[in-house]
Amino acid sequence: MVQAAPFLLVVFLALGAHGLSVQKCNLTGHWKNDLGSNMTIFKVKEDGNFSGIYHTAVSDTTERIQTSPLRGSQHLPNQLNQPTFGFTVHWTFSDSITVFTGQCFVEENHEKEVLKTMWLLRKHADKRGNDWKATLVGYNEFTRLEKQ
Ligand SMILES: *[C@@H]1O[C@H](CO)[C@@H](O)[C@H](O)[C@H]1NC(C)=O
Ligand SMILES: *[C@@H]1O[C@H](CO)[C@@H](O)[C@H](O)[C@H]1NC(C)=O
Ligand SMILES: *[C@@H]1O[C@H](CO)[C@@H](O)[C@H](O)[C@H]1NC(C)=O
Repeated sequence: MVQAAPFLLVVFLALGAHGLSVQKCNLTGHWKNDLGSNMTIFKVKEDGNFSGIYHTAVSDTTERIQTSPLRGSQHLPNQLNQPTFGFTVHWTFSDSITVFTGQCFVEENHEKEVLKTMWLLRKHADKRGNDWKATLVGYNEFTRLEKQ
């Protein structure tokens, strides 16, 4: 028993330090989704603003895919508690716009962050009569890519 206390203290400090060093659900970084698309989110500002680049693996056009800019906002009061967020992707190779909305979840083992998102893609309709078929809806799950 005399020797157990220092041992437990060491274990506690090691776990505590690890927990503090990994800040979960700050969206800054590299992410990949279930379709093989990926995005890089630059620094999430003090007010939650962020910008980034999106590299899609799929497209509804025949144009060559290019990286496209994104801008969004992360809900900051909940930053350490699975925050909500939204962002807009301005496709550079088509006339479409996509808006994503989602939430960051930290899985129960506290190891893995998962972004659960839904999106609406607005295609350019050549006339008002085609408006009805101009919006697609989808669902994607992102996980963090290892540091690059
Ligand atoms: C998110 O993380 C980035 C990179 O570590 C950091 O520069 C930024 O200040 C953080 N944002 C917030 C709101 O904590
Ligand atoms: C966040 O975005 C809003 C709207 O564009 C802007 O007014 C504000 O200055 C931005 N904040 C920062 C820290 O860049
Ligand atoms: C990001 O996605 C693009 C398009 O699928 C792919 O070409 C590229 O290799 C991916 N990058 C990483 C780091 O996964």
